[in-house]
This record gives sequence, structure tokens and C-alpha cells, in this order.
Amino acid sequence: MSFARAIVNLDAIRHNAARLLEMAGGAELMAVVKANGYGHGAQPVARAAIEAGATWVGVAQLSEAFDVVAELGAARNGARVLAWLYHPAADFAAAAAAGIELGVSSQAALNAIGDAVRQAILAGRGAGLIARVHLKLDTGLGRAGAPGTLWTALVATALRLEAEGVIRLEGIWSHFAYADDPGNPTIAGQITAFEAGLERAEELGARFSVRHLANSAALATGLPVTYELVRPGLALYGMSPIPQVASAKDLGLIGAMTLESYLSLTKPVPAGQGLSYGHMYVTERDTVTGLVPVGYADGIFRSASNRGRVRVGGRNLTVAGRVCMDQFALDLGLGAVDRVGDRVLIFGPGLDGEPTVQDWADAAGTIAYEITTRIPPHIERYYVGRGTSSGRFK
Ligand SMILES: Cc1ncc(COP(=O)(O)O)c(C=O)c1O
Repeated sequence: MSFARAIVNLDAIRHNAARLLEMAGGAELMAVVKANGYGHGAQPVARAAIEAGATWVGVAQLSEAFDVVAELGAARNGARVLAWLYHPAADFAAAAAAGIELGVSSQAALNAIGDAVRQAILAGRGAGLIARVHLKLDTGLGRAGAPGTLWTALVATALRLEAEGVIRLEGIWSHFAYADDPGNPTIAGQITAFEAGLERAEELGARFSVRHLANSAALATGLPVTYELVRPGLALYGMSPIPQVASAKDLGLIGAMTLESYLSLTKPVPAGQGLSYGHMYVTERDTVTGLVPVGYADGIFRSASNRGRVRVGGRNLTVAGRVCMDQFALDLGLGAVDRVGDRVLIFGPGLDGEPTVQDWADAAGTIAYEITTRIPPHIERYYVGRGTSSGRFK
């Protein structure tokens, strides 16, 4: 019996994928499974999303793409895979051979990809090899993507390498800075910049089979940017990208992860006793405390000390005092009937009144993304839903 586990409901993933396809209004769905599927497990999530109609899988690191392709095997079912972060000396020929498509933001990256494929062909290792690329334009996020000033040169290089036969242009894409802030003026500005970049590339002779810009927030707010492909991550896991405007439930999404532990100790404590480091919490009356054997080393945010809530025996209780490395305390109250071994629900989809990932994000002063991605690998992922047996993903 492990001290905590993250239960991942693959039926919720399927439900959310189907819901996102509805929001996408005819566009294809890329399941974004970077960061080990936002902590849920990249391969099981990708597989469930593909079963529900996703035709693309997106990851950040090229290494993640190699893993997901190998692990999915036949379950990939023709789904295309895109990666957008890689070392300049990465094995681009192997990526091309594995059918992994690459997001490209710079001429240097494009040339490195072209060189790798050319060398593989010249060395007799790559007959018919071609790297499929998606040119990324920085429309205002100020992170990846070619700035407008370098866009024409990037497209020109791509067209030259395409004419040589070492790359094929597949996509044009960009990413929003403020899609989670409906009405923010940068949104319209980014869409205009995207359209202008597309027009410029087409004038130069580029042709793209897919244009993609929409993340979860763009879909949740109904931005008219679904094009041929959408790229949501957070919403696939049943979390709202716009929690200040609409909850996951409002958006028709179901939280896929439940995090649970148990009571490892209960004991009587007198009034006036400080609990845990720094005595941030002092008991007001004689009471019974409970210990939960998970802490910040297990992904429980220390910043949620005295704020995060958990469900025990049908009651939601606030963490009493500081979250430590591997435990935190609860004030169960005098006469509590809770027993050592009882289940402590840290968060879940919220359907039975338990706290949600968003509640923990609010308590910890962060975003839902950080809560699930910070649950470390040593916390067992236990899969439920169609296609699972005994919690192990098959
Ligand atoms: C380039 C890119 N596309 C799509 C996504 C998915 O975004 P979200 O999880 O907000 O839907 C991300 C995640 O941050 C991303 O970096």
C-alpha cells in the first residue's frame, strides 16, 4: 500500500477530448501531453485522447516525442506527433524517420534539421527521408517563434530546403500571451499578426496544410481561431483555463486526476498547542489532530499551509499549520471518529464536494497547471476507466 496515489480517470480524458472536439468546430484535435501529460502520464492520456478522436499529439521536448511514439506503438493509430523544443544537435534524422514533426522558430534550427536529413540521405541511411516542419511566428507572446523581422528570411530558407527535398512545410503556428484574459487587446493583435504572417508566407510561395493557434483558453472563450487544428492541454485534463470566468463544470469538463492519501496518526492535543513548524496554527480548544503523510516533496505546496483543504470522512478540513517535506496536520476536532488508515482526499473532480485542483491552485497562490505537473514520479499513477485493469494501464 503506497502512502499516496494519483488516480487518473481515462474516461474523463476521453470525455474532455470529445468536448474539445465540439468546441473546435470541425478542426482536428492535438492532445498536448508535454510534462508527462501535465503529470497524468503522457502515454495513457495520449492513447485515451486518440481513442476519443484526437489525431495529433503535442509535446514540448523532442525526447518526449520519441518516448510517446515508442510507448504508443500501434495505439498511435496514425496520429501525428509534434515537438517544439530540442537541442541544436538533436537527432533530427531519427525524428524524421519516426515521423515526428518539428516546430521551428529560427533559421539556425531549420538549417540544422535540413543538414541532418541531407547527411542521412548522403550516407545512405535515409532514402525518402524528409523532415516535416511547422514554422512558428512570434505574434506577440515574446517566447518562441520567429519575430516579424526575421519571418521572411525564415520562410525563404524553408522554401529553399523544401525545394531541395529535405523538409516539407506542414504547418504555421503561434501561441497566445493572454488567451485566458477575454477581451485583452493583445488577443486581436496576435490574430492580426498571425494572419499577416500567413499572407506574407503565401506570397513567398509557402503552402501550409495546417494552421494552429488555439490553446485551451482560446477554445473555452470561443475565439474564432480554430483553423485546421487546435492545441489544448489543460482542458484535456478537465481543468478550466479561465477559472475566474468559468469553472471546469461550466465548460463541460471533468477533472481527470484524484489525489489521495490517508491518516497516518491521530492523537489528542490540548488547547493552545501550536501545530507543525513555526506554529502557524494554534488549537483553540482540546482537540484531536490527524497527520497526512504527504508534503512538499510529494507535490503538496508549502504555500498552501493553513489554506489548502482536503476531504476526510465526508468533511472538508483545512490544513492546520505548515505543510512539511513529507507530512501535514489536520485539526479533526474533539470526538472525531476518523481513524488511522482512513482515506484523505486531497483533490478530485469535485463531484462529491471534495476540493479540486483549482482549489489547491488558489490556496497555493499558483495555477492549476503547476499543481498536477508538480506531483513527482514517486507518487503512483493508478489508472481507471475503460482499457485499464487493476489500475495499471494496459
Ligand atoms: C506551444 C503550446 N501550445 C499549446 C499549449 C497548451 O496550452 P494549454 O494547456 O493552456 O491549453 C502549450 C502549453 O503551455 C504550449 O506551450
